[in-house]
Amino acid sequence: MRNRALGVLLLLLLCACGGQEDSVPTLTVSGSAVGAEGEVLARQIRRFAAGNPGLRVTVQQTPDDATQRHQLYVQWLNAHVGTPDVLQLDVVWTPEFAAAGWILPLDRFSPDSGDFFPASLAANTWQGKLYALPWFMDVGMLYWRTDLLSAAPSSLAELTALARRGKAAGPRYGIVWQGARYEGLVTVFLEILGGFGGSILTPEGRVAVDSPQGIAALAYLKGQIAAGLAPPEVLTWHEEETRFAFQNGNAVFLRNWPYAWALLGKPGESRVAGRFAIAPMPAAPGGKSTAALGGAQLAVNAHSRHPEAAFRLISYLTAPERMLERARVVGQYPARRSVYRDPRLAEALGADPAAVLAIVERARPRPVTPVWTELSEILQIHLHRSLAGQTETAAALHDAAREMEAVLERSGLGGPS
Ligand code: GLC
Repeated sequence: MRNRALGVLLLLLLCACGGQEDSVPTLTVSGSAVGAEGEVLARQIRRFAAGNPGLRVTVQQTPDDATQRHQLYVQWLNAHVGTPDVLQLDVVWTPEFAAAGWILPLDRFSPDSGDFFPASLAANTWQGKLYALPWFMDVGMLYWRTDLLSAAPSSLAELTALARRGKAAGPRYGIVWQGARYEGLVTVFLEILGGFGGSILTPEGRVAVDSPQGIAALAYLKGQIAAGLAPPEVLTWHEEETRFAFQNGNAVFLRNWPYAWALLGKPGESRVAGRFAIAPMPAAPGGKSTAALGGAQLAVNAHSRHPEAAFRLISYLTAPERMLERARVVGQYPARRSVYRDPRLAEALGADPAAVLAIVERARPRPVTPVWTELSEILQIHLHRSLAGQTETAAALHDAAREMEAVLERSGLGGPS
């Protein structure tokens, strides 16, 4: 019996070591497939592979939900698994993964980083070293129905009033946003918080979510649900569920990222094609119109068996031409400043590059710290509970702030940058 087991083990080892795996190195890249992303990634990877015979490249799909994707990555990386070799990271994860030793500093590859936006370079830098290259920029924005309204709202109060007026004309919902308990909810909150003049942390790094502005922001979101403008279902919705609601003609307003633009504009697939526009999220008096800064970066797994090839793929995917193609197919905003000077970008995006550039440059980053996931998770729990009517607004934010402060103190990292 024992011998048989040994025999099987030997066979398994032989299978694992021999064959194609070793003769043709395989690079695995983890990517998201929201909307047309999977399509353009597959196309670009095919071209890269054609120019790199002797290398195979495969895509490993991961969940769309940012928080679930993060959990999966933590499992892989914590186990020191060498794949995926190239990781698509959310802008808020790089410091955490760098501090954990899960991704490689890129200095050994001498990347040319001068063309990228300073805010995203800062978000990808940990202890003076760059760990990931920005791939595309996400900024939160307001989609609105031009067939129901004549202008975008100029204040948060007007947003509520117009949601009500537009809804009276037919659609089931006044506004839809990402309210499930995940990272997306924090970005929605950040935008309304900024709109009331608040922030997640003070410039000195103190937690500020329980400020009067924080309370006003959470009360504002709760008010939209209480008034029947945002459906209670938003508390389980991510980007795609909200896009579908808007795309099917069921909402007057949608808060989402740029990727939704191209999909909503497809006649035949979208009931609102030709009947919507985008606008910045409005602010309250004394606040500031705020777009959350999001986006994807590419990093090399610290345990990859092919780090040089992995970086070659990252360089290829983050080159200007690929960003332009991604802008054309997916509608995502390039992460290189030079692409905004390319006359082809206007046609690719169907929008004025100068206006897009202004939005990207003013977008509000989330705090750059290796403990962001912990801070965000606390906030998600308390925001969500309160939105679901289980806790009172001020108490929810008070509790969130105390728990977030404890994380910052315990981490011994001081205030995030
Ligand atoms: C988008 C953004 C990312 C954000 C996430 C939240 O993927 O690029 O930064 O954290 O949405 O759902």
